[in-house]
Amino acid sequence: MNTAAPSAHAGLFNPSDPAFIANPYPIYQLLRDNAPVFRTPVGFWFLTRHEDVNALVKDRRLGKGFAERMTRQYGADHLQEPAIRSLGLTMLVQDPPVHSRLRGLVTKAFTTKAIESLRQRIEALANDLIDAVIDAGEMDIIRDFAHKLPVHVICDMLGIPEDHRGRFMQSSQVAGRLIDPAPLTPQELVIANERTQLSETYFNSLFEHRRTDPGDDLTSHLVQAEEAGDNLSDEELTANILLLFSAGHETTANLIGNGLLALHRHPDQLALMKSGQLNWGDAIEELLRFDSSVQLTSRTSFEPIEFSGVTIAAGEQIVGSLGAANRDPAVYADPHRLDLTRSGIRALSFGGGIHICLGARLARLEGEIAFKTLMKRLPGLQLTDIDQVQWRQTFTLRGLTELHATW
Ligand code: HEM
Repeated sequence: MNTAAPSAHAGLFNPSDPAFIANPYPIYQLLRDNAPVFRTPVGFWFLTRHEDVNALVKDRRLGKGFAERMTRQYGADHLQEPAIRSLGLTMLVQDPPVHSRLRGLVTKAFTTKAIESLRQRIEALANDLIDAVIDAGEMDIIRDFAHKLPVHVICDMLGIPEDHRGRFMQSSQVAGRLIDPAPLTPQELVIANERTQLSETYFNSLFEHRRTDPGDDLTSHLVQAEEAGDNLSDEELTANILLLFSAGHETTANLIGNGLLALHRHPDQLALMKSGQLNWGDAIEELLRFDSSVQLTSRTSFEPIEFSGVTIAAGEQIVGSLGAANRDPAVYADPHRLDLTRSGIRALSFGGGIHICLGARLARLEGEIAFKTLMKRLPGLQLTDIDQVQWRQTFTLRGLTELHATW
């Protein structure tokens, strides 16, 4: 096996190719078998083995190196673009000690107890969404259910009033692209900047509202933390609320969409889920392993570091393919088979190390309730065309633009 083979496989790797986006797993497999530590033609390294990706997210000799990465991708004069500046202030791309300070301010809202207390509300929301479409006999699962459910849940958590939520119900095609290893086009950057500024304006007015009329929600708690001292700047407050908002819904919407598609492509597993005779925790973990809504995570090496016998110099961008690691046969028997009874999954769908997904418990609960509700309320649900689905043109976040169903 050739672990380095940087250029031999260069022609294979085109993350913007629609065929790759539709099904990246054969390319992941080729790379994992032939060049698991692969230098892509656009200059970042790409890791596909479970062992390497797991080490990448946990090793403290690596960090986010966000400013360096953005400078490389866009040039230093673009660091103050609203979308880049806002993302740069979030815990997602910060290294300690700033990362620990920002994450520490919100972890309490995501403990097992706090999340479990949301169960009844999430069940009620899921049922309301089905009530709204059941008589029509059809829906776009993404627009009418998968997107709306987590948006309502994160809006509840952030204290966004019900009558303000309409603006958040449209799925954005550009949001999320900024975290791709390939840069946005100038037009996409303009749209991302506009969206960021619009959201900032909205959240600033929400903060004013919550300052005078605090509630038991995350925004009120963060506004109080900001007022209590120098723990959180105004800009950090806005940026991290925006992060929670977008991380809190796009990913979960895709768990529901990708999961439902996978189930319909594996009718025996769909029947098993409908029977209810399964461990729901394992089943959700398996759906995430099989086709995760977050396909990769990126780090920068602070010093030379070795993966599978290849030494990578300091200052390089290294991308770990969570999607490839989740299908590594060294860890999972028959990895391309969806098996809801698989147990002990060591999936990297939620990342690992200090940036491990803050919302993993919430996502698992939302996923469980979404699938249980769909199976119970719409047992005759059929997807209209499971071979012609449209994927969103992103590399990091994996999800469908729409998914039509009838019953
Ligand atoms: C199926 C759903 C989800 C998936 C697959 C997912 C996946 C991930 C992954 C892989 C990371 C790590 C990124 C990295 O290493 O750079 C992450 C981080 C994060 N996620 Fe999620 N996520 C999901 C849902 C959620 C939800 C519902 C929320 C919150 C409401 C959330 C909030 C966050 C935040 C705040 C971070 C940054 C944590 C940090 O940097 O310390 N996620 N997520």
